[in-house]
Amino acid sequence: MQEATNSTVRTVSLPDAVVPGQWPTALAPMQDVTNLPYMRVVSRRGSPDYYFTEYFRVHGTSRLDPRILRSITENPDGRPVFAQLIGENLVDLRRTVRTLREYPVAGIDLNMGCPAPRVYKKNVGGGLLRDPQAVDRILGTLREETTTLFTVKMRIGFADDRLFETLLSLVSKHNVDLLSLHVRTVQGGYRSEPSYAHAKHAVDFLPCPVLLNGNISTSKVAHEEVIRSGAYGAMIGRAAIRNPWIFKQIRQMQANENVFQPNLEDAYIYVEELYEEFSDPKVPEEKQVARMKKFLNFVGLGVDPRGEFLHKMRRSRTKDELFSVCSRFMREEGRGATAFHEHFPSVVSRVQSPALLPTISSCSSEFEFPST
Ligand SMILES: Cc1cc2nc3c(=O)[nH]c(=O)nc-3n(C[C@H](O)[C@H](O)[C@H](O)COP(=O)(O)O)c2cc1C
Repeated sequence: MQEATNSTVRTVSLPDAVVPGQWPTALAPMQDVTNLPYMRVVSRRGSPDYYFTEYFRVHGTSRLDPRILRSITENPDGRPVFAQLIGENLVDLRRTVRTLREYPVAGIDLNMGCPAPRVYKKNVGGGLLRDPQAVDRILGTLREETTTLFTVKMRIGFADDRLFETLLSLVSKHNVDLLSLHVRTVQGGYRSEPSYAHAKHAVDFLPCPVLLNGNISTSKVAHEEVIRSGAYGAMIGRAAIRNPWIFKQIRQMQANENVFQPNLEDAYIYVEELYEEFSDPKVPEEKQVARMKKFLNFVGLGVDPRGEFLHKMRRSRTKDELFSVCSRFMREEGRGATAFHEHFPSVVSRVQSPALLPTISSCSSEFEFPST
């Protein structure tokens, strides 16, 4: 791709997919999830084509968070990593992009979707979607400063889609290289009906590729919705926490190969690896167990149809208790060979314990973890 921008000629193209010719997948940025330990675990089960970091906060005194930086500097599989930023101050954004030039990032991604009230009330994340003039200035600045790819992740609007085309026009005006579109409004949080028609609209409207995002729950859904919308590829978040094989499955589906079907033993080993990768001797065991529960809230959707696994695992306090519950539901009495389901519809979502929710300032604060 070679494009003339206002004053320069850019020759940066999007990275190839793992299998050239297939449409690409991306692991969605997820705070406290898509960091180095999780990337290691997922890469062993079939890497996504692209990674996006959880967001770097950008403000007057911000510095690059070393924990997030590790997902760039210690990239486990060499797949391209886009560094996501959240912020609105032009000077600080410029400074941050310049600092990131020292690191091997595939591109700079702007977060315009975070729905946490504490975030959007500061006019950053999803809050920006109410202010096209600010978006114009920020996209212009980031485009100018970014020497690699410049990508945007946004929702279809704040309370409704009234400004959708205006926002798309700005994405187009500033030669954004890739748009990841979460097909909900900011106020729609994580549970409103995803509107895939908006992805099709964006695809038809924009000169740049569009990654479809929002409730892509299985390889089959991914395939159907990408084909239907004409999107460039799919960005997957929560389904990848539950099923880290999804990127491999999508590749197999595109190649018309048999699609790998994990069983409960595979899921158990996944949980064990997560615990090991995240384990930190400096962190009290109870906290490490609490972190694991956040992952298990997703994994548990496919373990048993009555939701008993979720109920019992939430009551464990120690590593031994947690793994004894995992073993009982995922290994014992020959259960290991049973299929790890995509998601039992009978296991529904509702908030149960505030302790299971991420911090209030996080993008995921509105996300309701599944419960029984
Ligand atoms: C735990 C969690 C943390 C998230 N953190 C971020 C983030 O840092 N940046 C961002 O742009 N989106 C964030 N999101 C939103 C996801 O990237 C994605 O847009 C959303 O979950 C919809 O995709 P999905 O249905 O495939 O999960 C987060 C979502 C979750 C569940």
